[in-house]
Amino acid sequence: MTSPILVTGGTGTLGRHIIPRLRDAGCDVRVLSRHSHSPEHDVEFVIGDLDTGEGIEAAVAGAETVVHCAGSSKGDEEKTTNLVRAASPAGVRHLVYISVVGADRIPVVSRIDRAMFGYFGSKLAAERVVADSGLPWTTLRAAQFHDLLLTVAQQMAKLPLIPVPAGFRFQPVDTDDVAARLVELTLGEPAGLAPDIAGPRVYGAADLLRGYLRSRGKHRMVAAVWLPGEAARALRAGANLAPERAVGHRTWEDFLAERVSSPGHSRSGQA
Ligand SMILES: NC(=O)c1ccc[n+]([C@@H]2O[C@H](COP(=O)([O-])OP(=O)(O)OC[C@H]3O[C@@H](n4cnc5c(N)ncnc54)[C@H](OP(=O)(O)O)[C@@H]3O)[C@@H](O)[C@H]2O)c1
Repeated sequence: MTSPILVTGGTGTLGRHIIPRLRDAGCDVRVLSRHSHSPEHDVEFVIGDLDTGEGIEAAVAGAETVVHCAGSSKGDEEKTTNLVRAASPAGVRHLVYISVVGADRIPVVSRIDRAMFGYFGSKLAAERVVADSGLPWTTLRAAQFHDLLLTVAQQMAKLPLIPVPAGFRFQPVDTDDVAARLVELTLGEPAGLAPDIAGPRVYGAADLLRGYLRSRGKHRMVAAVWLPGEAARALRAGANLAPERAVGHRTWEDFLAERVSSPGHSRSGQA
């Protein structure tokens, strides 16, 4: 039996695309989750919580490669610190981390920045934990996933008048395109900071939303809202974009056509 690859966040949106790709490549896969799961498709599940550190030593034991995709809107620095603390003495030879495009360009300095865009600060802090871990590492910064923007659009569409941040643009990327690249990096040599990955097109925030509304046959008023703070200013300047790295294949329109097209064809039932 070969050393398993540990995937944190293997039950999440990205992780669910990574696991079959690793399995197809012939890898043994172990998934860390806070909840119990029955083994499926030869994937082993280990219960642990990166916020408390509980169960993490058992999760990393014997794993030479760790793909760290567990995350939440807050606390990624602490999660990553707990992971590294267990992984360092366990002989991990490659720590792969997924971060976000713009983590290094979106300043999170004021209370307003932290309240609205603290996520970017915590991703940058987690990147530093990985880079300073002493373990061989690879970090990939990805743009916003289609799935995330769909969830946001679904929530916003419940409002009669939808506020969108003035001047914000996005370059959404398909989750499976990110998974493919992350698996490629995982199976390669530690590469440090890899070139960013972003989707094929840049859209204004209102255009993304209108695309979703159109695909659902909905009509809503959209109002641009000016957001204060340094982080919002950087976002208006395009700090979350990587036009020179428009390497994702699937467009927002293609994604919507498959996932949303008509109410009767929704996969989740709520698209
Ligand atoms: N979504 C985007 O647009 C985007 C863009 C760029 C980068 N990223 C990064 O990509 C990664 C994956 O994002 P995603 O959208 O796939 O996330 P997601 O669907 O919200 O999944 C989060 C995952 O993290 C795990 N997790 C959360 N807290 C944990 C904890 N305390 N201990 C152990 N596991 C924990 C969850 O596992 P259980 O619930 O099973 O415990 C779940 O598998 C994140 O690091 C995110 O920052 C996302």
